Amino acid sequence: MPVSTTSAAIANTIVRRRTFAIISHPDAGKTTLTEKLLLYGGAIHLAGSVKARRAQRHATSDWMALEQERGISVTSSVMQFNWEGFHINLLDTPGHEDFSEDTYRTLVAADSAMMLLDNRKGVEDRTRQLFQVCKRRRMPIFALVNKCDRAGEDPLKLVSDVETDLGINCHPVTWPIHRDGAFVGVYDRRKEQIYLFDRSDDHGAKRATGHEGRLDSPEIIELLGPEAHQTLLHDLELLEAAGHPFDHDEILSGALVPVFFGSALTNFGVEPFFREFLELAPSPTSRESTIGPVEPTQEEFTGFVFKIQANMDPKHRDRIAFVRVCSGRFEAGMPSLHVRTGKTVRLNAPQQFMARERTIIEEAWPGDVIGIMDRGNLRIGDSLTEGEKLEFSDIPRFPPEHFARVVLKDPIKRKQLDAGLRQLTEEGAAQVFYTSQSDVSQPTPIVGAVGVLQFDVMLHRLEHEYGVRCKLEPISARYPRWVTGAVADIDRLAAEPGRLRIFDSLGNPVILFESEWAQRWTVDRVKALEFHEVAP
Ligand code: G4P
Repeated sequence: MPVSTTSAAIANTIVRRRTFAIISHPDAGKTTLTEKLLLYGGAIHLAGSVKARRAQRHATSDWMALEQERGISVTSSVMQFNWEGFHINLLDTPGHEDFSEDTYRTLVAADSAMMLLDNRKGVEDRTRQLFQVCKRRRMPIFALVNKCDRAGEDPLKLVSDVETDLGINCHPVTWPIHRDGAFVGVYDRRKEQIYLFDRSDDHGAKRATGHEGRLDSPEIIELLGPEAHQTLLHDLELLEAAGHPFDHDEILSGALVPVFFGSALTNFGVEPFFREFLELAPSPTSRESTIGPVEPTQEEFTGFVFKIQANMDPKHRDRIAFVRVCSGRFEAGMPSLHVRTGKTVRLNAPQQFMARERTIIEEAWPGDVIGIMDRGNLRIGDSLTEGEKLEFSDIPRFPPEHFARVVLKDPIKRKQLDAGLRQLTEEGAAQVFYTSQSDVSQPTPIVGAVGVLQFDVMLHRLEHEYGVRCKLEPISARYPRWVTGAVADIDRLAAEPGRLRIFDSLGNPVILFESEWAQRWTVDRVKALEFHEVAP
């Protein structure tokens, strides 16, 4: 029986939901901050100290052995927890740029982003890249200048550099307080409150304790000392005179970036930041679809798949589709239209995640990310709806930039190889091509990836999950264009020197060019054919 849930009930539920991702350059402290948010959210009780992590190389959000070996976060996961009445969906994204595809897809499922900066380095390459993706989506961004426990760039200069580099206005909401050169706390300009933190020697394993009070509180002035207090007053005057004023609407439209200061390692400033973030960040809003905007308060459930992950639990061969709920109330086992195939599917045993731990849930609301056990029907970008037929259309796709032939070390494992490659393709972790359109079982498969590290992940997963050992032989041609038009014209083009014709897993022809120049030249010259950056 369909459940009747009024729009008002949905509105009530989503008002305290926050779904966000953290974007940063590797090493800015994303893993550390993630851990601290979980600590504050009560999802973990003791944050692993950095030293312990160095030894074990694991954080709650890492589950692939490869990630642990290399100390990089390869796959994205979702972590859900509650804090002070907020229901939080924290979407974890891979840190390394070779896995950008996964990060971009995950950002589509988020409503806002935390942008983490190192206080010595400010904006770095990857921050810039990811910031641009968020900006294009007009996503609200909250910047945290991290590592303030050690000397860094002057905060005023840092804010001004961020504005110039990213071409965005900033408003510092918290400001670092130093005493005798040491970072001792932050001032929250919106709450007009000072937070001073106690030093501890537990490496930030527990929440930071300390004192809070008004700017003119005698107790605070005494703790801070008159000199540090004067410096703070002076800084605040400067900020008032020179900075951009606070404007919540501008923050929500992505035109103004609120900036915070802190240290994820010692927890100083993390709680004021997180509190402000939860208050200021948007709850789930409307999403564009093929039939216009879909309001989260619409009664019918809608959602889309932004990630597929198989074999998360090595003991069970499972395959989970991560679905972002966009509207309505989702209920376990509910029938839903799978728009791409036109079939009605039952979304059974939905799960909620805390990294490796999962719990079965009965219901979910807009903004939530749920995991659906899937037997191979769902694909990245698929839309699900309980009501009118619609598609959420903005999941980005990327052409591979590296290609390699897969050579089996043990040729009798061809079946397992095909199963593994199919799975990796469906997860968006690889793209598979063949040199023949008609008989994909004979020729050596070719894999394509956006970043070369993806190849390492493929080999590792093929070996550990499918028992297939292979090696990859890189192909020098690496500038692909999908091509449509008359077969004779495609044949003629493929026969030219320096071209390699391959077919994607659906049989669509792709021409690989040896240089970007050759690719551009052909696209400009051959008018009989249509060229596409990704599969048409
Ligand atoms: P990432 O996920 O963004 O790549 O960064 P991660 O949290 O792994 O942090 C990168 C390094 O920066 C780590 O040091 C971590 O301890 C340090 N770090 C993170 N937050 C802070 C902070 O607030 N202050 C200071 N001073 N350092 C911070 P590492 O020595 O590379 O790591 P490890 O080998 O000790 O684990």
